Amino acid sequence: MAAEAAEKTTFIDNDNPSSAAPDTAAATKQSQQSWITQRFPFLRTKRGIAITVAVILVIIGGGLAGLAALPKHRGGGAAAGEEDGAGDRPGATIDDTYFYGQSPPVYPSPNMTGSGSWTEAFLKAKELVGQMTLAEKVNLTGGVSSNTSCNGFLPAVPRLGFPGMCLSDAGNGLRGTDFVSSWPSGIHVGASWNKALARRRGTGMGGEFRTKGVNVLLGPVVGPAGRVVLSGRNWEGFSSDPYLSGVLVSETVSAVQAVGVITSTKHYVANEQETNRMPSGDTESVSSNIDDRTMHELYLWAFQDAVRAGSGNIMCSYNRLNNSYGCANSKALNGLLKTELGFQGWVVSDWGAQHAGVATALAGMDVVMPTGNALWGSHLADAVNNGSVPESRLDDMVTRTIASWYQMRQDQDFPRPGVGMAMDLTGPHEVIDARNSSSRSTLFDGAVEGHVLVKNIRNALPLQSPKMLSIFGYSAKNPDKTNPSGGLSPWLFGADSFNWTEFGAGFLGWSGDVGKTAIAFNGTIYSGGGSGATPKSTVISPFDVLTQQAYDDGTALFWDFESGTPAVNPMSSACLVFGNAYATEGADRPSLRDDYTDGLIKHVADRCNNTVVIFHNAGIRLVDQFIDHPNVTAVMLAHLPGEASGRALVSLLYGRSNPSGKLPYTVARNESDYAVLGPDLPPEPEGGDMFGSFPQSNFTEGVFVDYRHFDANNITPRYPFGFGLSYTTFNYSNLSVQKAEDQSLNFDEYPTGAVVQGGQADLWDVLVNVSADVTNTGPVDGAEVAQLYVGIPAEGAPVRQLRGFEKPFLNSSSTQTVRFGLTRRDLSVWDVVVQRWRLVRGEYTIEVGGSSRDLPLVGRVTI
Ligand SMILES: *[C@@H]1O[C@H](CO)[C@@H](O)[C@H](O)[C@H]1NC(C)=O
Ligand SMILES: *[C@@H]1O[C@H](CO)[C@@H](O)[C@H](O)[C@H]1NC(C)=O
Ligand SMILES: *[C@@H]1O[C@H](CO)[C@@H](O)[C@H](O)[C@H]1NC(C)=O
Ligand SMILES: *[C@@H]1O[C@H](CO)[C@@H](O)[C@H](O)[C@H]1NC(C)=O
Ligand SMILES: *[C@@H]1O[C@H](CO)[C@@H](O)[C@H](O)[C@H]1NC(C)=O
Ligand SMILES: *[C@@H]1O[C@H](CO)[C@@H](O)[C@H](O)[C@H]1NC(C)=O
Ligand SMILES: *[C@@H]1O[C@H](CO)[C@@H](O)[C@H](O)[C@H]1NC(C)=O
Ligand SMILES: *[C@@H]1O[C@H](CO)[C@@H](O)[C@H](O)[C@H]1NC(C)=O
Ligand SMILES: *[C@@H]1O[C@H](CO)[C@@H](O)[C@H](O)[C@H]1NC(C)=O
Ligand SMILES: *[C@@H]1O[C@H](CO)[C@@H](O)[C@H](O)[C@H]1NC(C)=O
Ligand SMILES: *[C@@H]1O[C@H](CO)[C@@H](O)[C@H](O)[C@H]1NC(C)=O
Repeated sequence: MAAEAAEKTTFIDNDNPSSAAPDTAAATKQSQQSWITQRFPFLRTKRGIAITVAVILVIIGGGLAGLAALPKHRGGGAAAGEEDGAGDRPGATIDDTYFYGQSPPVYPSPNMTGSGSWTEAFLKAKELVGQMTLAEKVNLTGGVSSNTSCNGFLPAVPRLGFPGMCLSDAGNGLRGTDFVSSWPSGIHVGASWNKALARRRGTGMGGEFRTKGVNVLLGPVVGPAGRVVLSGRNWEGFSSDPYLSGVLVSETVSAVQAVGVITSTKHYVANEQETNRMPSGDTESVSSNIDDRTMHELYLWAFQDAVRAGSGNIMCSYNRLNNSYGCANSKALNGLLKTELGFQGWVVSDWGAQHAGVATALAGMDVVMPTGNALWGSHLADAVNNGSVPESRLDDMVTRTIASWYQMRQDQDFPRPGVGMAMDLTGPHEVIDARNSSSRSTLFDGAVEGHVLVKNIRNALPLQSPKMLSIFGYSAKNPDKTNPSGGLSPWLFGADSFNWTEFGAGFLGWSGDVGKTAIAFNGTIYSGGGSGATPKSTVISPFDVLTQQAYDDGTALFWDFESGTPAVNPMSSACLVFGNAYATEGADRPSLRDDYTDGLIKHVADRCNNTVVIFHNAGIRLVDQFIDHPNVTAVMLAHLPGEASGRALVSLLYGRSNPSGKLPYTVARNESDYAVLGPDLPPEPEGGDMFGSFPQSNFTEGVFVDYRHFDANNITPRYPFGFGLSYTTFNYSNLSVQKAEDQSLNFDEYPTGAVVQGGQADLWDVLVNVSADVTNTGPVDGAEVAQLYVGIPAEGAPVRQLRGFEKPFLNSSSTQTVRFGLTRRDLSVWDVVVQRWRLVRGEYTIEVGGSSRDLPLVGRVTI
C-alpha cells in the first residue's frame, strides 16, 4: 500500500530510498546552505559571504544546528541495528524500523473543499491553478531566494498575474527590518487576559506586515503549549492553558487576517522543547509521544481555535510525533488537521523541517521552506510524472496556497511582496514606515496589561512622590547597543542584552554550550530571542522613564547597574531592583531562578526596608529565595512588554495605571512541584540504551500540566494560575447557571454537525449560560479578570479547567454583570473510541472568581 510505504520511509529521502546515503548528504548540505542564506538574506551580499562560509563550516563541524544530514546508515528496511551499533552509534540497539506504525497512517491527503467562507477563494484558486503548467505548480511548493529580507519567498507566476508571496517572522512583530513596532510578546498578551486588546494588537501588527509587503505572518504561536516549564520558546505563546491560548489565538488570527495578512499558526504540534528539536548527527529529533485524548484536550485545542478563526496557514514542526516527523506525519496533517478540523489552508514546513520527499507530499505538507531544491523541486516533478505523488495532490497543495491569497484579498491592491523588507539595512534603501500612529495606545495598553503584580504589602505601591529612589540591577536600562551591523547581529534576534556567544551556540548552531545562562545581563529585554524576537525601532526602558519622572518630582536618584552587592543609601524611600529571566529559541532555559539576581535582591532588601522587585521574565520565574524577606514589599512580573515597557511600568508604579494582569501559568514554590520541569534528554548511546539515537518524550502526565497538576496533587503554589493583584479590591456575587433553552439545540452525547473549518459545527453551540456580578469594592478604578472554571464529571478529568474569562473595567464602587457561554466543546471530553467529543452525563461544577484558587462562586448544572 502506498500509505504504508510512505509511513515507513518517514526517516529517509523517499525520492531515492535505495541510494539514500550520498544523495541525502549532498541534499542536506545544500539545504543547510539555503536555510542559512534564506533566513539571513544579507548573507547573500558580498559582505555576508565570508560570514556564510564561517557559519556553514561551524555548523557542519559542530553539528549543533540540527540541520545535519540524516544519518547515511538509516536506510530502508535493512536490519541496521548491529551494523550501526558497531559503528558510530555504539549504544543504539534499534533503528527506525522499530517505530513503524506508531503513528497511524491516514491517506490519501484530503483535498481542499472550499467549505464555509472559502468557496469563492477556492473557485478562483482552482481556476488559476488550472492554467498552470506542472513546472509552475511545482515552483509554488518551495521557497526561492529573493532580493528582500523576507524569511521565505514563494516565486511569482508573472504570466498569470500572481506576484509571489513574502513570508516573515513572527508572532510578536515584524523582525529584521526598520520602521515597525515592538509589540508585547505572546506571554504578555496571555498575562493581559484581554480579548479586545489581543484583537487590537492583531490589527496593528497585521497592518505593519501588510505595509511592508509581507503576505504571511509567521505566527501566532500556540505550540509550545507550556508543557515543559523550562522550554525556551514558551514566551512566544500565550499561556500554559489551552483555553486561554485558544481564545487569544482566535482573536489574533482573525484580526491579522482581517487586514489581509495570512497567519501561519505554529508550531504544529507538540513542539514542546528546544533540546533535540532538530536532527543532529546520528540523533533524530525528539519524539513527542502523546495519547489521543491528551492531544485533543491540550495540544490540538488552541490549533482548533486558530483553524476555526480561519488561519490560512499552519506551520508543521521540527519534532516527531509518535516517532514520525511532524511534517511527514499523516495522522497529524491528513487526519487531525485536514479531516477532523476541516482545515482549508496550506501547511508550510518550519524552516528545514522537511526530511523526506514523497512522504511529506502524501502526508499533507503543502509548501517547503526555505527551499524545495533538496527534496521537492525537480524531484517532486519526477514523482508526479512517475506516479509516486498524484498530480491531484500537487494541485491541492497549490490550490490551498493560492486560495488563502484570494481569501485574504491579496489579489486586490496588496503591496508588492517584500516591498518594505530591505536586504541590508546598512545600505541605502527605500523608507517604508509601517508604524501607524493609531496603534500607539494599543502598544501602551498592551504593555500595561501584561504586568502582573504578585506582592504588594505596607502600601509599597503605588509610589507617592518618593523623596529618594535607589535603582539596582542589570535590567533597568537599555543595552549599550541596538544596531543592525549588516551581519548576524544581536539586534536581529532580540539578543542585545544576552551573551552573544551563547546565543549563537543555541540558535545559530555555533559550537559551544547552550542553556547555561538564565539572564540577559547587559540590559532590559523587550522580548525573548530567536525568530520570535521583536524588532526594536523605538523602545523606552524603565530607567529612561524613571529618570524623567524623578526629575519632574524632584526625587533624589541613585543607581548602580553593575554591582551584585551595591551600596544602599539608607534614606531611600524605595529601592527598585530590576532582574530578568531570558529565554530564546534554540535552547531550553537552565533554571527558573538564578543566584546572582536572587543574591542582589537579598543584598538590597537587607539594607532597604521598601524593596520593590521587577522581573522582565520570558517564562516562569520562581521567587521563593526572597519572597518572604520582610523588606521585599512588592514584586512585579513584568513579562515582555515590547516598546512601551518603561512608560507602562512607571505608569503602574506611580498609580496612573492600575495593575490588571493575571498569571497565565502557575508560579510554584519549588521546581519539583511542576509536572514536567525540563526537556527530555536523549539517553547516552554509550550506556547501551536502545533509544540512543531516538530521544523520546513520553507525555505520560497526560492533561495534568500546570494548574491541572497542582490541583490533582493538592500542591500549594506560590502564586496560582490566574492570580494577580490590583490597587483595588473586587467582590463576586449573584452566580447564575442556566442550561440553554433553545429547543433546537442538541444535548446528545455526541455532536452531529458537519465538519466546517475548526471541526464539527455544533461543537460551538452554547449549551450553558453563566453570569455573575463583579463589584469594585476598593478605592480606585480598575479592571478585573473574572474567570470561570468547569469541573467535568468524567473519569480522569481535571478538578477544574478554565472555560471562560471576561475583563470588565470597573469604576470604584460600581458593579458589572459578566456573562459566559459554555459550548459543547467546553463541556466535553475527547472519546478515544468514538473519535468525537463526548458531552458527559452528570453534574458539572461551575466556579467563578479571581484566580484558579480563589473561586468564591460555586454552582452546578446537570446534563
Ligand atoms: C519516482 O520519482 C521519485 C522522485 O525522483 C523517485 O524517488 C522514485 O523512486 C520514483 N519512483 C519510481 C517508481 O520510479
Ligand atoms: C500516537 O499514539 C497514540 C497511541 O499510543 C495514538 O492514540 C495517537 O493517535 C497517536 N498520535 C499520532 C499523531 O500519531
Ligand atoms: C482530489 O480531487 C481530484 C480531482 O480534482 C480527485 O481526482 C482526487 O481523487 C481527489 N483526492 C481525494 C483524496 O479526494
Ligand atoms: C520557477 O521559478 C524560477 C524562479 O525561482 C523561475 O526562474 C522559473 O522560470 C520558474 N519556472 C516556471 C516554469 O515558472
Ligand atoms: C526587487 O525585485 C523587484 C522585481 O523583481 C523589483 O521591482 C524591486 O525594485 C527589487 N528591489 C530591489 C531593492 O532591488
Ligand atoms: C492605521 O490604523 C487605522 C486604524 O486601525 C486604519 O484605519 C488605517 O488603515 C491604518 N493605516 C495603515 C496604513 O495601515
Ligand atoms: C558567554 O558565553 C560564553 C560561551 O558559553 C562563555 O565562554 C563566556 O564566559 C560567557 N560570557 C560571560 C560574560 O558570561
Ligand atoms: C555585558 O555584561 C558583561 C557581564 O557583566 C560585561 O562583562 C560586558 O562588558 C558587558 N558588555 C556590554 C557590551 O555591555
Ligand atoms: C530591613 O531594612 C532595614 C533598613 O531599612 C534594615 O535595618 C533591616 O535589617 C532590614 N531587615 C532585614 C530582615 O534584613
Ligand atoms: C523604613 O526606613 C525609613 C528610613 O529609615 C523609615 O523612615 C521608615 O519608617 C521605615 N519603614 C518601615 C516600615 O520600617
Ligand atoms: C517511552 O515509552 C516507550 C513505550 O512505552 C518506552 O519503551 C520508553 O522506554 C519510554 N521512554 C522513556 C524515556 O520513558
